[in-house]
Amino acid sequence: MEKPKNCIIVIFGASGDLTHRKLIPALYELYRKDLLPERFGVLGVSRTRLTDTSFRKQLAASLKEYTANDSTDTKQIKKFLKRIYYLAIDTSNAGDYQKLKSRLKKLDKEYQTHGAFIYYLSIAPSMYEVIVENLGLHGLQESQWREGYDKRIIVEKPFGYDLESGRSLNKKLLKVFREPQVYRIDHYLGKETVQNILVFRFSNGIFEPLWNRNYISHVEITAAETVGIEKRGKYYDQSGALRDMVQSHLMQILGVIAMEPPSTFESSAVRNEIVKVFHSLPAIHPNEVANFAVRGQYTKSKIQGEIIPGYRDEEHVDPFSRTETYIALKVFIENWRWGGVPFYIRTGKRLPTRVTEVVIHFKSTPHILFKQKDQHHTEPNQLILRIQPDEGILLNFGMKLPGAGFQVKKVSMDFHYSDLGDIPVPQAYERLLLDCMMGDSTLFARGDAVEACWGFVDPILREWQENPDDTIFGYPAGTWGPRQANLLFGVPGLDWHYPCKNLVEDALFCEL
Ligand code: BG6
Repeated sequence: MEKPKNCIIVIFGASGDLTHRKLIPALYELYRKDLLPERFGVLGVSRTRLTDTSFRKQLAASLKEYTANDSTDTKQIKKFLKRIYYLAIDTSNAGDYQKLKSRLKKLDKEYQTHGAFIYYLSIAPSMYEVIVENLGLHGLQESQWREGYDKRIIVEKPFGYDLESGRSLNKKLLKVFREPQVYRIDHYLGKETVQNILVFRFSNGIFEPLWNRNYISHVEITAAETVGIEKRGKYYDQSGALRDMVQSHLMQILGVIAMEPPSTFESSAVRNEIVKVFHSLPAIHPNEVANFAVRGQYTKSKIQGEIIPGYRDEEHVDPFSRTETYIALKVFIENWRWGGVPFYIRTGKRLPTRVTEVVIHFKSTPHILFKQKDQHHTEPNQLILRIQPDEGILLNFGMKLPGAGFQVKKVSMDFHYSDLGDIPVPQAYERLLLDCMMGDSTLFARGDAVEACWGFVDPILREWQENPDDTIFGYPAGTWGPRQANLLFGVPGLDWHYPCKNLVEDALFCEL
């Protein structure tokens, strides 16, 4: 495989959690697999006073903790860390960027990168605009056209707080950088199994003809987590599940499930099709929000003898908070392929299991040939795209039970990534960092797409904000969220796909 050109990655927020847990381990994996450029360096930038040596020491410990299995070879780690540097500056102080500039000049010479720098904003979103402005003031964004390598900037989520701030951030970024230099990262697009949806749909002849309103009755997209908000109360209480998961990750999954086939697999062709899906989502009218969105918040419960605190008891969370830790939505895509097909999207913290999956429900047969006892319809086929964990694909269908008569039984054909043997599934950040170094933005969100996603969730957020008394349902930690989410289906007998049971029986559900 062709390697990227030499470059320096500048990480703003170098002492932060993401750098230690995801970015450096991902870069190390790429290094181990010999996928990085011949000459590459990393410059960590943060306010904390550290030297190159002390930063490397910290990273060595993080690599041991966060890197998989057999890859923590001490010698290799040492060699890798030699390429990592540190600079302490106050990123809000324009004058300090002179120090950054001179450090980069030196590294540029040493690594012969010809000005090929990638800036990674892994810092509090409130700092994005000031960093971008300061990079611009010092000419640190300027392209080196002759070398055929732009300076690039990777922007972490959350990309804005609502439609207005998302737009304003885009505007400020695009005052300094050009759109092709901007890589808005959504780590779900870096997941192997999300990319596989594209391959599954567009490299097989048998599914695409069925992939529309004529054969599909509805689609579910679920991202369930067992964890609570961990130590992120401050951020989460201002954010909530709709902003944290739906506006970004789940909308991107919706995009790849619902998009039209692009004419080529090139960044703009793929991203043009994805954005069309977002533009086809009708804005939910404020009076209709309760019919299309059900929000919940986890409450205290006991799971296998262990008390799990409720959301309002978490650190840095307002004890009267009305922030949602669960959201279920019913979404329609208004175009020819999907007209009338509901997409049900749900995500939540403290649910019974960790699973992200898409379930495609096909329509029943038009006529029931094999009448079953107590059943007035044949069980429709389902296709389950399991994004994580136990990544794979499963197709449910009916078959004849051996013996007298024609008893139909639901069985499945399934593929698990683990069947591929020892081909490991790489981490999302590995793929995305490498793509950015290669200048491939296919798996990054484009500015118009981010704005379109905000455009869809904004009316819901506004309705809740303007009517804080709108219902929010309590659900005990360890359950599948408020039961009211089932009412979104509006058809008796239809319900969500539950990969497992509630962990808490006789749970008490309430309105908060
Ligand atoms: C992050 C959210 O973007 O994604 C977290 O901020 C969430 O709240 C996480 O837990 C989920 O990512 P993954 O890869 O663990 O599914």
